[in-house]
Amino acid sequence: AAPWPGPRTTRPAPRPRSLTASRCPTSAQPRAKRKRARPAVEGKRLESRVRALWLRRRGKARGSVGWRTYLAYAQAAGAGLTAFVLLLFALSQATLLLSNYWMGVWAAASDQDEPRYSMVFTLLTATTVVFACLRSVLFYFANLRASSSIHNAALQHVLGTRLAFFTENPHGRILNRFSGDLEHVDDLLSQALHEVLDLGCTGAGTMVLVCMTVPPVIPVFCAMCWYMARLRSFAVRSMTELKRLDSVSRSPIFEYFAAAMRGLVCIRAFGREEAAQEKLTMILEQNGRAWFWWLITNRFLGFRLDVQVVLVMACSTFGGGAVRGLIEPELIGLAIMHVISLSGLFQFMVRQSALVESYMTSFERLSAYAALPAETDEGQATLAPSFPESGGIEVRELCMRYREDLPIVLRGVTFSCPGGVKVGLCGRTGSGKSSVFMALARLAEITAGSIAIDGVDISTIPLHVLRRCISWVPQDPTFFSGTLRENVDPFNEYSDDKVLGALHAVQMADSLGTECLNFQIAEQGSNFSAGERQLLSLARALLQRRRLLCMDEAFANVDFATDAKVQRAIRAMTDGVGATVLVVAHRVKTLADSDYIVVLDAGTTVEHGPPQHLLQAGGPYSRMVHQATDELDAGVL
Ligand SMILES: Nc1ncnc2c1ncn2[C@@H]1O[C@H](COP(=O)(O)OP(=O)(O)O)[C@@H](O)[C@H]1O
Ligand SMILES: [Mg+2]
Repeated sequence: AAPWPGPRTTRPAPRPRSLTASRCPTSAQPRAKRKRARPAVEGKRLESRVRALWLRRRGKARGSVGWRTYLAYAQAAGAGLTAFVLLLFALSQATLLLSNYWMGVWAAASDQDEPRYSMVFTLLTATTVVFACLRSVLFYFANLRASSSIHNAALQHVLGTRLAFFTENPHGRILNRFSGDLEHVDDLLSQALHEVLDLGCTGAGTMVLVCMTVPPVIPVFCAMCWYMARLRSFAVRSMTELKRLDSVSRSPIFEYFAAAMRGLVCIRAFGREEAAQEKLTMILEQNGRAWFWWLITNRFLGFRLDVQVVLVMACSTFGGGAVRGLIEPELIGLAIMHVISLSGLFQFMVRQSALVESYMTSFERLSAYAALPAETDEGQATLAPSFPESGGIEVRELCMRYREDLPIVLRGVTFSCPGGVKVGLCGRTGSGKSSVFMALARLAEITAGSIAIDGVDISTIPLHVLRRCISWVPQDPTFFSGTLRENVDPFNEYSDDKVLGALHAVQMADSLGTECLNFQIAEQGSNFSAGERQLLSLARALLQRRRLLCMDEAFANVDFATDAKVQRAIRAMTDGVGATVLVVAHRVKTLADSDYIVVLDAGTTVEHGPPQHLLQAGGPYSRMVHQATDELDAGVL
């Protein structure tokens, strides 16, 4: 279920909190009191949302990070490379130990001037330096490889996954994973992991040395390691959960900020800058709270470990004093020195390893995106390269829903038409007209029934072939910042003349002047009006000359005169290709020259057939036409 209840979910809609509603409160509460109360209420709401989101996420990933995540990280870096880097860490430590050992041998030798001592020592030291440099370079290279491969895999899967994913996950949440989480994997994780491996090797090497020279300290080390491991596992459970909460609560920041930017005009118009700022601050505080507690837990671990180190130091110093008559003093001194240095080293290693585990949650979150299911593209149908020949459509008992957890929105839509005709889809808002287009392009799940194009069931047509047959002018077209030409012909497939021809057909060439192809379009096409954007989108569709042209309220924001001209142009262009045109329109006038009409209501077909038949039948279509004619006569339209 979607964590943020929206108008399209099945959950009870939250009470509207429109700007005007909150501006004109109906309660008799004094103003000052209201001002104080609102942030608290909103804070609680937000808190419960974050908690709900967190709990939802917890079902998937909980507690400490599993070994599978570490394995996946190693695989993303390259299994061979990871093994080689680990080997280099071990080898550099081994050569360091050997050089220390050789130093001892050299010091104990009777003839210290013998050249072999210095030669072997120099060789061992040089090898240690080479191994240490190589291991660090390869380690960071492997880390970079792991983060870029997880980024690429996550991006590829997100772009290729079903559309339902984007309705379930707000853009802010997706952006968060590709910014905040990726930064953790790129930057912080590598540093902490390097420290852990480095300190781990140094610690292990020193322990081997200590066990060989002062065996009595072995039990002390065992006890120390056991206690540190316990403390670590205790703190890590909270730290990883808090890191997840930190990551999850960062998403609303992106979401709200992007929404505020989009709604800036509204915010300014209603003077709600302060309220918007307050809300953003509240969301930031929520995120800050998670991060703060994570930091506190980290400090708690650090403090407890420090206390332990101090205790070990005190015990070993006093213990050494207590046994001074029983054991040789040099041995006691050596043992105390090793205990003190190793406890400090282990303390830092344990803290760093807890950080690694926290940062691994980010890798875990990106891995979840890298495992998203892709849209199924394969189809068994063998199709001629010229498919579809005529573009005839047959929709039979079509049922569809947007997501598994949402209700069915089309409940048995049925109609059929031969290729090359113009089909008008009409019905009340929310009756399912746009959803028919979604089903036609297999952008949403067809739960029952079928759609066939030229007699071929679309579920058997490979997805890329199916979508290549359809041109779609959506209700709210998308534009990218760039030139007009890049937007109308994104794959640079057509000549300038053809692009200009399409722009002329939609009546846009004249208004943009001679240099119209190089006209700069702003982000989201914001330097065009809604109607102009629709006309440009139509030009894009007409240019492709595909067999099926779907227009969804394409003329809702276009004046009557332009509408009529563009309709004629569409006719001229589509008749040449023999395209089937599916038009969704509110204006009866736009549908007037349709060869076939389908009337939908609440996701079902109420009536369908040629317009003359429907007019004679006196059903919903004829009522719509009469109502429109009356309004025209009365001067309403
Ligand atoms: N992306 C979506 N996710 C979930 N439900 C949706 C989505 N788009 C539309 N719906 C639901 O599907 C129903 C039909 O919507 P739609 O086909 O857009 O209606 P129309 O185009 O006829 O106005 C509505 O009840 C709407 O709430
Ligand atoms: Mg619609």
